[in-house]
Amino acid sequence: MKKAINTYVSGTGAAVPDTVITNSDLEKMVETNDHWIVSRTGIRERRKLEEGLSNIDLSERASREAIKRAGLDPSELDMIIVATVTPDHPTPSTSCLLQARLKAFNAAAFDLSAGCTGFIYGLTVGHQFICSGIYKNILVVGVEVLSRVTDWEDRSTCVLFGDGAGAVVLSRTEKERGIINFSLHADGRGANLLIIPAGGSAIPACEESLQNRMHFLKMNGNEIFKFAVKVVEENLSRMLRHNNLKPGDLDYLFLHQANLRIIDHIRKRLKIPQEKVPVNIDRFGNTSSATIPIAIHEEIVAGRMAEGDLVAMVAFGAGLTWGGLVMKW
Ligand code: ACO
Repeated sequence: MKKAINTYVSGTGAAVPDTVITNSDLEKMVETNDHWIVSRTGIRERRKLEEGLSNIDLSERASREAIKRAGLDPSELDMIIVATVTPDHPTPSTSCLLQARLKAFNAAAFDLSAGCTGFIYGLTVGHQFICSGIYKNILVVGVEVLSRVTDWEDRSTCVLFGDGAGAVVLSRTEKERGIINFSLHADGRGANLLIIPAGGSAIPACEESLQNRMHFLKMNGNEIFKFAVKVVEENLSRMLRHNNLKPGDLDYLFLHQANLRIIDHIRKRLKIPQEKVPVNIDRFGNTSSATIPIAIHEEIVAGRMAEGDLVAMVAFGAGLTWGGLVMKW
């Protein structure tokens, strides 16, 4: 009898810029203070990519580490998926630039835009190609250089975001491990709640778009907050129920790092101990599609996460999009 094909993570990597922007640095730029930022968001500092570098530099660093830890040569990659809303260029895709940097010339390559849920969407897409028996090894990168689309004069957003990249290699296995379940969603009626209005075909770059600061990210934070606490819990509970699992069965819950209050709220509602819900928002801010893969990599490097652990991840973001995934590590 033919054995079932499963998808597991064979390697992880992460990269953040060296430059640290603290809350007291921001106090010098906009009317804000450390107390407000820490109490409302949990963020103490974030990283900002240095001039002259771009998305591809972070993507390459994170990817090289993930490929090395997977024990692969880049030529063994069958596909590269880069989840990002801050690519190097509108076209070509960052994944094609990455393919060339890595010399992974056997890999198909495309970018995926699903806001902060991009990494979860990317894992799920990669999983389909592996389960279908077509591909063996797929690189999935969650990467953002949000500092380049942040309005550094808007205190309601500039304190929140940071730059970073996380990468994983998905590989085929016939063992009983890997992705168990996933759940992807979108509601385009909320598109305006988190948007970069200009720079696309609707409002191409022009003098007016520059003057009106329309190339920067605009966000309705209160509405996103309400949406996030609702859908994250619903999504996770549904996925667990579907597999006859309970929140207490999880060894790890990786939540999108957008606000510590959202993370704490969900953790407490589901009665999951703090140590099972990794947090890096205090050090890196909201790095969008990179928050979850960076947190996963940190747990791997610290030697805390091990094969067989039951792991869930849930993210939400622009689109609106949200999604989650449960896997046996
Ligand atoms: N420093 C000081 N005061 C500030 C700042 C700041 N940086 N920003 C806003 N304020 C003020 C506001 O002007 C307001 O003042 P007012 O009461 O005089 O009008 C007051 O603080 C309260 O503002 P709120 O927006 O109500 O503050 P809230 O507690 O909702 O926190 C926040 C705002 C942090 C943005 C929160 O709504 C949030 O985290 N929302 C979710 C955002 C999110 O998840 N986004 C990302 C999703 S997708 C992705 O990850 C890319």
